[in-house]
Parts: sequence; structure tokens; C-alpha cells
Amino acid sequence: AAQLKGKDFLALVDYTSEEIEYLIHYAIELKRKQKAREPHAVLAGKTLGMIFEKSSTRTRVSFEVGMYQLGGQALFLSKNDLQLGRGETVWDTAQTLSRYLDGIMIRTYEHRKVIDLARGSTVPVINGLTDYAHPCQVMADYQTVLEKKGRLKGLKVAYIGDGNNMVHSLMMGASKLGMNFAIASPEGYDPDKEVIQISKENAAQTGGSVLLTRDPREAIENADVVYTDVWASMGFEAEQQEREIAFKNFQINEALVKHAKQDYLFMHCLPAHRGEEVSEGVIDGPNSIIFDQAENRLHAQKAIMAATMI
Ligand code: CP
Ligand code: NVA
Repeated sequence: AAQLKGKDFLALVDYTSEEIEYLIHYAIELKRKQKAREPHAVLAGKTLGMIFEKSSTRTRVSFEVGMYQLGGQALFLSKNDLQLGRGETVWDTAQTLSRYLDGIMIRTYEHRKVIDLARGSTVPVINGLTDYAHPCQVMADYQTVLEKKGRLKGLKVAYIGDGNNMVHSLMMGASKLGMNFAIASPEGYDPDKEVIQISKENAAQTGGSVLLTRDPREAIENADVVYTDVWASMGFEAEQQEREIAFKNFQINEALVKHAKQDYLFMHCLPAHRGEEVSEGVIDGPNSIIFDQAENRLHAQKAIMAATMI
């Protein structure tokens, strides 16, 4: 943990394969301790500030509860209540908050703001979701896959849908963990080019692979993990109708999952829209592990906080 002390957690591109693997195993260890009621108050007396400029159920509750279980406390700071919402600069906010807090979590729109906040802060900054990345979710996701499958390297992850923040983190993470990542997205909804480029380079090093296609069936072929996310992310609600048209052939349903491995895992970061990106039968079916993923947000983030804020 020592080498991660003080480090920001902004995007998986900043973390090595070894660091990501270390954090996943640390999360599993903290999960075991919490279930066994073994004390693990490694952040006793420390405080996390949580800035939210978007809604949240899982992120807010899991960070707040996680901090409490680690012996510290968390503060919910909504944009409307902070002077940040009235135009105080990110720099001044970062400098000020660093005088009180031992860590800052932020959920916002532009990734740039998170980078600027981290630059102005003297305490670690954790990305709780931007339009570009959702790294905490992916740490929980790959922990969940490891728990279910006993390994990560060599597994195929198929993502069907919007090339959004989730995809960027899933693809980057998979490429660092030696997994095979395939995405099927409609034209105009591709992931970020630089993320694709870096992920391909990583995959060449780790023995993984990255495939982009317009054909959901090609992406899902023989997949161990089948993943999707909403068609219109937070901030894109106005595009809901045009997106429903663009994505109509990109629903994960009973017909499509026939092409995945028989023991495939269905995953979704949640919140979900049943009947849009995924059929009710699949998301509520026997292969779905959505609530194990949601639970692991708690354990994964405890590991991230414990390692960086110690
Ligand atoms: N998956 C996720 O981040 O959920 P919330 O938006 O509820 O935090
Ligand atoms: N892509 C979704 C993820 C929500 C957790 C969004 O950004 O709204």
C-alpha cells in the first residue's frame, strides 16, 4: 500500500497492472474482514469530502459507508451548497478543502475539472465518475469477475452499446489485466480514440486484445462477460429519443446472449433501463450479477481509500 499513499485515483490509465491487481486483492481482503467483523479502521480520524455535481445512489452510499467502516467519516458536498456552484474557482476550492480533508471524491461532467482539482489539492482526489471515466466502478466490476471466475487473464468481456465513460474504464482496465475486450457500438457512438490506442498498446503487452465492431453478435461471440450501460448517460438526457433509434439493434436480450458462453456473466453498472439496453429476462435472469457488482463498490473503494489516504 505504501507506494500508493498520496496518489490520486482519476483514471485507470494512471495505474499499472500490478497496482490494479494489488487493489483488487486488497478489496477482497477488506471484504473478508468486514464479513467476519474483524476491525479494519485503518483511516481512523480521517475525513473524505464528496463533491457531487450529478445524482448518485451507489457511489454516494458506498463511499460514505466505506469511510465509516474504515474508522473515518465522509461529508456529502453538493454542488448547490458549495461556493464552487457560485463561481469560486476549482483551484481555490481544492486548496481550501485540502486544509480540512484527507481525501476528496468528485463526481462531475468534464474530466478536466477533476484533473484541475487534483492539481490544486494536496490530498488524494478520487474520480467518482466523469463523462470520460468511471474507474471505481470498474475496480468493483473486475473484482466481481475474479470472485466468480477465479481469474481475469484470458477472459472475454463483450460490451454492447454506447462508447461512454464506462467503456473507457472497462477497456483500459481489461487491457491492463490481460483480458480480451470487444465492443459493438453504432456509428457515431464510438469510444475515445486515444483510449482505444492506449488500450491496444497495453493489450499487446499483457496478452489481451481489443476489438471494435458494429455487430453485437460478433462482439458477444463466446464472451465470458456481457456488459451494457444506459443509452443516454447523465448529461445526455436530451438525446434520449435519437439514441433509442440509433441503439435499437444493440439491446442485450435472450436471442443475443445465446452466442455468449453458456456460463456468461451479465453485468451492468446500474442504474438500468429494462427493455432498452437490456431485456428484463437477461438482467433479472440467473446469469446476472448486477447486485454483486453494486456491493463490491463498497469493498473496492475502501481499498482505494485505504491505499491512497493512509
Ligand atoms: N454505478 C453507479 O455509479 O451508480 P450511481 O450513479 O448510483 O452512483
Ligand atoms: N454511463 C452512465 C453511468 C452511470 C453510473 C452515466 O454516466 O450516466
